[in-house]
Amino acid sequence: MPDVPSTPLSGTVVHGAGRGRGLGLPTANLAPDPGASVPAPAVYSGWLSRPAAGAVHRATISIGTNPTFCDTAEVHTEVHCHDTSDDLYGEHVDLWFVARIRDTVRFAGPDELIRAALEDIRRSEAVLDTPHARAVRAAALSAALR
Ligand SMILES: Cc1cc2nc3c(=O)[nH]c(=O)nc-3n(C[C@H](O)[C@H](O)[C@H](O)COP(=O)(O)O)c2cc1C
Repeated sequence: MPDVPSTPLSGTVVHGAGRGRGLGLPTANLAPDPGASVPAPAVYSGWLSRPAAGAVHRATISIGTNPTFCDTAEVHTEVHCHDTSDDLYGEHVDLWFVARIRDTVRFAGPDELIRAALEDIRRSEAVLDTPHARAVRAAALSAALR
């Protein structure tokens, strides 16, 4: 699939602003490893792999400045896992990208953002059932178990 990186983005899960859980949209905030190349701002579908746990989770990933809430240039990498609410703080994880879903948008407020994010997650669920996504998952799992 075009326009997504073929190598994973690695980093450590850190505390974010704490807004996501209140929005009903919990996210793991990733601090990318030093020198890691972070993909262009957008919403992506992919897999979050946890070598420490030997697990791979379905994910929708937001990379951007969170323009709905923030006026700074700081780029956040946030991951919503579809199939776990485990506390990932402090874990070193890898993000494997499958497809780009849309551009980041400055929404008028949290309600519009939540509506769009739920639609992103629905689309991501469908993407993750494709043969291409399953092949990426197999690579992620084999790397996690290495
Ligand atoms: C699927 C998904 C899509 C998102 N899309 C946008 C977006 O288009 N614009 C935006 O400002 N923030 C977007 N975000 C980021 C949210 O603003 C962010 O997750 C929320 O503010 C919580 O931040 P926190 O974890 O630092 O508390 C998205 C997040 C997710 C999970």
